Amino acid sequence: MIKKIPIDQLKIGMFIHDLNCSWIDHPFARNRFMVDRVEILSRILEAGVVEVSIDTALGSDVTGSDTGVVEDGELDEPEEELSSLIPNFISTLSPAEEFERAKILFSNASKLMHGIMKDVRLGKQIALEQCDPIVDNIIDSMFSFPSALLPLAQMKTRDEYTFQHSVSVSALAVAFGRVLDMPRDEIKAVALGGLLHDVGKALVPGRILNKPGKLDDEEFVVMKSHALHTAKLLNDVNGVSEITFNAASQHHERYDGKGYPQGLKGDAISRHGQMLAIVDAYDAITSIRIYKTGIPPTEALRKLFQSSSTHFNNSLVQAFIKGVGIYPAGSLVRMESERLGIVREVSNDKLLQPVVQLIYDCKKLSYISPETVDLSASNDKIASHESFEKWGIDQAKWATAHL
Ligand SMILES: [Fe+2]
Repeated sequence: MIKKIPIDQLKIGMFIHDLNCSWIDHPFARNRFMVDRVEILSRILEAGVVEVSIDTALGSDVTGSDTGVVEDGELDEPEEELSSLIPNFISTLSPAEEFERAKILFSNASKLMHGIMKDVRLGKQIALEQCDPIVDNIIDSMFSFPSALLPLAQMKTRDEYTFQHSVSVSALAVAFGRVLDMPRDEIKAVALGGLLHDVGKALVPGRILNKPGKLDDEEFVVMKSHALHTAKLLNDVNGVSEITFNAASQHHERYDGKGYPQGLKGDAISRHGQMLAIVDAYDAITSIRIYKTGIPPTEALRKLFQSSSTHFNNSLVQAFIKGVGIYPAGSLVRMESERLGIVREVSNDKLLQPVVQLIYDCKKLSYISPETVDLSASNDKIASHESFEKWGIDQAKWATAHL
């Protein structure tokens, strides 16, 4: 039976049939799902939902008569106690706190990848159980405030590049999965594939992996072997899903069949492999490294779009662009008002009108007191994307913190 209930009656164990708001207004990948954790309850409250429809055939009723589908014992909580706890669940992390949380997560996830690749070099198995909570945290951060983790993950150091790239690909895969309306479980499997996609690089000799210049033909063959190593390593681990395996092992396949390791063509490449191919390429060309300036994200998206008839699935590229925005969070843009701003928040339905923090006057060539403007409610418009380097603006300082 479908029942519409006010939000204060919602509790763990109920099955959401409808959040009674449009998909873009809430942070969930699906409209229908089980409220099986405190955190989900908290998210619904944070999203400002005032009433929901529940399906009492699939979850608890308002009277507390559950169907036994919840296994974590949360339903054992007395109803009164649970209701009284609800206000505490409204975790109103400020943007500054979201950036701080993302920084810690990015660091921890990079360290995890460092450890996993070290283990692989020592002949040990991939510690899948350690990846699980990290991937959950990446999903949580991305669902809650994607503008924090993505700009941060764009900044990479030479020594940590491979680990940081893995985390970045995982975070981007979450943004991608969300715009494709995938269930959380599927998003998690692709995100795990993103985290582990380059684990085979642990078996590529350092002199080739870290060579600053161009690889010669022989070295390139060795480098390319990492995709096959990844497939073999994941094959050896119990509990790796088909989605994770395909996503990770096919990230260098290309839609025209000119990729590797198998040279799969078109839809012979799994949808998840096609997704990671796009994400991996995007992250590789936008990454800022100590010895290389990344291409501005908007330019990278244009390149991806140009390649979409050969290298990538065209419709997936379009969806990815929708997922990260035409002007992704953390990019520098020039306004028609001749001011420069950092893109802070992007919503899927207003790709050209993100929230921007204006920081610099192009005419006076000087910083201004930062001003946050929602372009969907402003007469000012983005004129172009700009590079941080051209204006001498410190990307690490401005793009990865909320000021
Ligand atoms: Fe790779």
